[in-house]
Amino acid sequence: MTATDAPGPIDLRSDTVTKPTEAMRAAMAAAEVGDDVYGEDPTVRALEERVADLFGKKAALFTPTGSMANLLAVRALVSPGQEVLCEAQAHIARAELGAHGAFFGVTMRTWSHPRGGVDLPAIEAMFAPDLSPFFVATKAISVECTHNFAGGRVVPLAEIESLHPLVERHDIGLHVDGARIWNAHVASGVPLADYGRACGVLTVCLSKGLGAPVGSLVLGPRRMIDEARVWRKRLGGGMRQAGVLAAAGLHALDHHVERLADDHSHARLLAEACGVDPAEVETNIVVLDVPDAAAVVAAARDAGVLVSALGERTVRLVTHLDVSRDQAEVAASVLAKALASTRPSAGGS
Ligand SMILES: Cc1ncc(COP(=O)(O)O)c(C=O)c1O
Repeated sequence: MTATDAPGPIDLRSDTVTKPTEAMRAAMAAAEVGDDVYGEDPTVRALEERVADLFGKKAALFTPTGSMANLLAVRALVSPGQEVLCEAQAHIARAELGAHGAFFGVTMRTWSHPRGGVDLPAIEAMFAPDLSPFFVATKAISVECTHNFAGGRVVPLAEIESLHPLVERHDIGLHVDGARIWNAHVASGVPLADYGRACGVLTVCLSKGLGAPVGSLVLGPRRMIDEARVWRKRLGGGMRQAGVLAAAGLHALDHHVERLADDHSHARLLAEACGVDPAEVETNIVVLDVPDAAAVVAAARDAGVLVSALGERTVRLVTHLDVSRDQAEVAASVLAKALASTRPSAGGS
């Protein structure tokens, strides 16, 4: 039985809920391994080299999570008491539990963009030169692509590149949180290497749309990645026979990238059923603005579909490897009913 056929609710809470396929498990079982803290795991090394090459970066480091990859990426660019600028709904600002400040003394200021993109005039106005000892100095800008909480939007490459003159003029860092860069690549047709060229440091995840159980990478210049390796160990992220996990990532790169187009098409199908213009859905995430998110989550759950409330009025649906076309169609009909039954006028009162 594949994970897709497994009985149980249709789980649209996140693309992190996928279970490794039989073929992925076989690849994991067959992985050659060694102690990666000694640099002796051939499968981890193969994964790091392959992903660095895909994005045209000099080096890559395998990490247990995207949050750790982002932490190491920002740390590589920003020192304690300095700041990174990012969009207000960015994962690094909202969903990493303050790790960048808690562990590395980095502060953040944010700009707002209705679709999670780059607002160059706002960023230029916010930029703070190093006027020590008076102000916190801006040392990096971080852009998220695709942008999770902005509904999986592909931030256009040109928007990221529009930051280059500012970044070069002030010699600061540019980070892309590419947890779902694979979705951006499949949706936009932009080559992975172009995303790599557009930023100094990039993070990518294998455990989201690609369906691996664990694993992310931080990519950049060799010296920065060597230093990130030391910091990963300091944070307790030095993994030993991690080749079993890296093998899942290598398998995902071989088999699960192009198929992301299916997830995108399933997301458009869900959007249409939920009254969202499918043309606005670029990848695998649909964000719904509803009067009562908790009521929608509960009504959908009672009918066998799991979705997330991101706020009191916001519901998120995410399609992935473990949601077939048939399941997306069932979920679409369940959600249409859940939305209708939870509208304030429903029931005539
Ligand atoms: C855009 C983005 N970046 C980073 C992460 C962090 O990944 P992890 O959950 O592996 O820490 C996520 C998680 O969903 C994400 O959506």
